[in-house]
Amino acid sequence: MSSSSDFAIEIQKVQDSKISDVDFDNITFGNTFTDYMLVCDFKNGEWQKPIIKPYEPFLIDPSAKVFHYGQAIFEGMKAYKDEHDEVWLFRPDENFHRFNKSAVRMAMPEVPEVVFMEGLKTIIDLERNWVKSGLGNTLYIRPFMIAIGSGVIAQPSTQYRFMIILSPAKSYYSGAVKVVIADHYSRAANGGIGAAKAAGNYSAQFYPTKLANDKGFQQIIWTDDATHTKLEEAGTMNVFFRINDTLYTAPTSERILDGVTRKSIIALAKREGIDVQERSVLVDEIVAAAQNSTLKEIFGAGTAAVVSPIAAFSYQEIEYVLPVIEDSFASQLKDKLTKIQYKLAEDTFGWTVKI
Ligand code: COI
Repeated sequence: MSSSSDFAIEIQKVQDSKISDVDFDNITFGNTFTDYMLVCDFKNGEWQKPIIKPYEPFLIDPSAKVFHYGQAIFEGMKAYKDEHDEVWLFRPDENFHRFNKSAVRMAMPEVPEVVFMEGLKTIIDLERNWVKSGLGNTLYIRPFMIAIGSGVIAQPSTQYRFMIILSPAKSYYSGAVKVVIADHYSRAANGGIGAAKAAGNYSAQFYPTKLANDKGFQQIIWTDDATHTKLEEAGTMNVFFRINDTLYTAPTSERILDGVTRKSIIALAKREGIDVQERSVLVDEIVAAAQNSTLKEIFGAGTAAVVSPIAAFSYQEIEYVLPVIEDSFASQLKDKLTKIQYKLAEDTFGWTVKI
């Protein structure tokens, strides 16, 4: 497939839009999808022409490798509507590059930039009525790729499907988030696929997260697999810790996802003059800081979760409750971030891209 400037995507129109059936005020995360999906197949060693068609189920052979070996990757992005009804993406180039990094790690073909970027722009333009205005309203974008080649031999597929689906979304968490610090299960190991946005990274954590849910906690903060002494990331987001007035977050590694919200929060915090340190954060250090009241905040940062304050954590069955802080770093940084995303503040970083 060429990357010519006259790249055009065929659109198969829907008969009737579903949009009038949707109660946008009462939407739960990830359950409502728009009228269209983008589909682009890879076969015979090359990418075929992308097509935008009505959102609908499709058939894949039961022996397809995605079912047996989990050869699947995805991205999470959002579109935002400003006060003038213009629609914006936030740092889509970051998602594109990370997507292809994940593809390489999972032995999948890299998606051409023109397919990813023009695909995004075309489908979101078509679905702009699904992006509602007002802070908190977003269109969650899920680009993904699956191995559709058939055969249960444990080898990479020769056929793949790249797709983009869209889901109107509000907040991911409905209330305060409480987390368990993992002391047994691990999300990822050095040399593994932790830095890739591979489907299996998320399903592997369902069971330990369920154990945490059963105890009244929403999430786990993972620790390093070798020693379980270093805090890494949570199930759906990267994590920041504020001790006194310094903000700490684990450095990215082979085990940690290079989060777009994470890096944006670091940049914003530095711009605000906050001392931010990317270094290993030890469980012992956080427990001690909670005990001597120097631990002021913990919050998560991710596309779906945005900036989610963590109200309490549990470690080895002891629960530590975080103080409620006026004008917290979490609320200040969330405000700065969302104002840029919704074009309510000047985007001095050049992060926003108009559809
Ligand atoms: C996102 O924040 O977009 C993610 O991909 C996390 C997902 C588990 C909802």
